[in-house]
Amino acid sequence: MDMRLPRQPVFAQLSARYRDVRRHSLLLAEPLTDEDCGAQSMPDASPIKWHLAHTTWFFETFILERMEAGFQPFHPAFRVLFNSYYNGIGEKHPRAQRGLLTRPAMAQVRAYRADVDARVARLLAGELDAGQRGQLETLIALGLEHEQQHQELMLTDVKHLLAQSALLPAYLDAPAPVAALAPPLSWLGFDGGLTAIGYDGEGFCFDNELPRHKQYVAPFQLASRLVTNGEYQAFIAAGGYFNAALWLAEGWDWVRSQNLKCPIYWQQDDNGDWREFTLRGARALDPNLPVTHLSLFEADAYAHWAGARLPTEAEWEFAAAQAPIETGELHPAGAGASVGGGLLQMFGHCWQWTSSSYSPYPGYQTAPGALGEYNGKFMLNQYVLRGSSCATPAGHARASYRNFFPAGARWQFTGIRLARQA
Ligand SMILES: [Fe+2]
Repeated sequence: MDMRLPRQPVFAQLSARYRDVRRHSLLLAEPLTDEDCGAQSMPDASPIKWHLAHTTWFFETFILERMEAGFQPFHPAFRVLFNSYYNGIGEKHPRAQRGLLTRPAMAQVRAYRADVDARVARLLAGELDAGQRGQLETLIALGLEHEQQHQELMLTDVKHLLAQSALLPAYLDAPAPVAALAPPLSWLGFDGGLTAIGYDGEGFCFDNELPRHKQYVAPFQLASRLVTNGEYQAFIAAGGYFNAALWLAEGWDWVRSQNLKCPIYWQQDDNGDWREFTLRGARALDPNLPVTHLSLFEADAYAHWAGARLPTEAEWEFAAAQAPIETGELHPAGAGASVGGGLLQMFGHCWQWTSSSYSPYPGYQTAPGALGEYNGKFMLNQYVLRGSSCATPAGHARASYRNFFPAGARWQFTGIRLARQA
């Protein structure tokens, strides 16, 4: 009897995942023209071409440069052009001027991706000792999670870009599913107590989800679903945007200085009917869908008006332990279509603002070197969002995930989960 096992390719699973994630970024760019891919609509948003190159730069800089024998860069200038924020790597092209990069052309960025992919594949297939193997595994896992974060940004950034044109072009010309009637909002009670917060598993997590630690959570209630467009319309109709008593001081300055009256992609036509721009084009506002693209200021003012508050991130994570992870598609869907009982729409629709500022967990440690800049240096003046959105790629969401944005950010798929004291 032949006892030899068939020779398994080294890292077969990781290689397959690498190919899938990398291919998905190119698929996201497929509905777009090269002109779409080069433009930048605001300093916070990046061109699609830049996202495609920067995610490749990440693998080239943090893996090939460290581990490939006789490493030569694809192009020496790319080290500066596609460095986002890593001071440990060196110079950076200014963030607000990424849209000026008409060169390299899209074709060259595609060639850059193909070249780095082939070299990473060679590294994975080559001879490695146990230490190199572990290092490669860790870095590729981080590079893929990083690329998935950018996949979400590709959709939100291109939405913001397309919304700048009176043509209101759709990213995808596909009919939007009709939302079922939103179920009535109910309140679910949680006992809380001394809870454990932070990642606790065998798979990947970002350093900001660690260490898992104890936190006391007083009894609280969470809303069964996200706040809908219809409910938010009532807040607008009641003069919510003009009532200083509802707003945080900084929020009131923010809303009045820009004369804001509604969420970023809403428009009222001459008949007073609301329309909403989506990745599937402009359409009549559906009152049963979750309200999305809100700043923390708007979410907090709405919660105040509704006689509730935003959850803390510990409350959210404690409650989310049993919630099913859904993956969305281009726009938040109605709670009528959400799976599971109890808490609906925790994942796959809108990121949910919390009242927790983005701070290190007790005992948090950054990685040594430039990769230590990944999360830790942003832990100031930002707020934590929990869950995931309709733009989050499959396999990227988990209950301990900590997303973060400044209080005024509105271009992500951000919504409201209400909380209140038990
Ligand atoms: Fe990045």
